Amino acid sequence: MTDAFDHAARLLADAPRILVFTGAGISTESGIPDFRGPDGLWTKVDPDDFTIQRYRANREVRVARWKMHQQGALWGARSSVRPNRAHEAVVELWRGGRMSGCVTQNIDGLHQAAGLPDDQVAELHGNIRKVHCLGCGARWETEEVLRWVDAGEEDPSCPHCGGLVKTTTVMFGEYLPLDQVQRAERFAAEADAVLVVGSTLSVYPAAQIPLDVVRRGGPMVIVNLGPTDGDRLAAARIEGKAGDVLPRLVDAILSSS
Ligand code: APR
Repeated sequence: MTDAFDHAARLLADAPRILVFTGAGISTESGIPDFRGPDGLWTKVDPDDFTIQRYRANREVRVARWKMHQQGALWGARSSVRPNRAHEAVVELWRGGRMSGCVTQNIDGLHQAAGLPDDQVAELHGNIRKVHCLGCGARWETEEVLRWVDAGEEDPSCPHCGGLVKTTTVMFGEYLPLDQVQRAERFAAEADAVLVVGSTLSVYPAAQIPLDVVRRGGPMVIVNLGPTDGDRLAAARIEGKAGDVLPRLVDAILSSS
């Protein structure tokens, strides 16, 4: 083990309740690209194509987006992505009674697919496997709406109010879901330390959540490939792949208690 690993493991072993905060980097080993890493999504597509204004105003954008979902692109409902060892390590931390909660910026639903109950996960940026109506708030599983698209409704609308429907993924220009933000804030308030995995900590207000723990004196441990905006506030940093580091780190935490 490296000094950084041992230091991080000791800090977290002393924390009864750990907030786990994850970003796109925990899912890259499941085949989902991150946004700002060397091969990130924002190096290939324009984030401006993913604003709520474009989606509302532009039928062609909506039809193209539903076609991508229908074809299993965007790593959503019809894709074959599966949790990796890092997601499974987070479940082990929860099973060991040492997690105050998991706050994720990811929309892939892989924490729940790995075994975390819904009420242990705060999805600050929504979930690509769920759809809601922008008019009345009605909700469906994405798979159900894709059956409407399969049946020929290429720009599906809400059967209750006729409003536009979209996955609950939070687009630029949209507010974060209040219930998920409140759940995340509760997890942070209950935590003695925060473990950040696979995030540049560059997007607010999500990145505020780990800082809530730091502000109360809880140590922040960062596991990431490359620098993050939170490094100068970190009590420990481990440079490495989440799938390699997390299983060993969680073992060290649980075996020390
Ligand atoms: N192990 C550890 N770190 C990794 C791995 C890995 N296997 N793969 C990538 N990383 C690192 C990248 O180097 C990068 O530093 O994870 C980090 C991911 O950072 P971002 O791509 O910025 O993703 P994230 O922090 O989740 O972005 C936040 O921005 O565009 C919005 O809504 C989007 O939720 C997203 C938000």
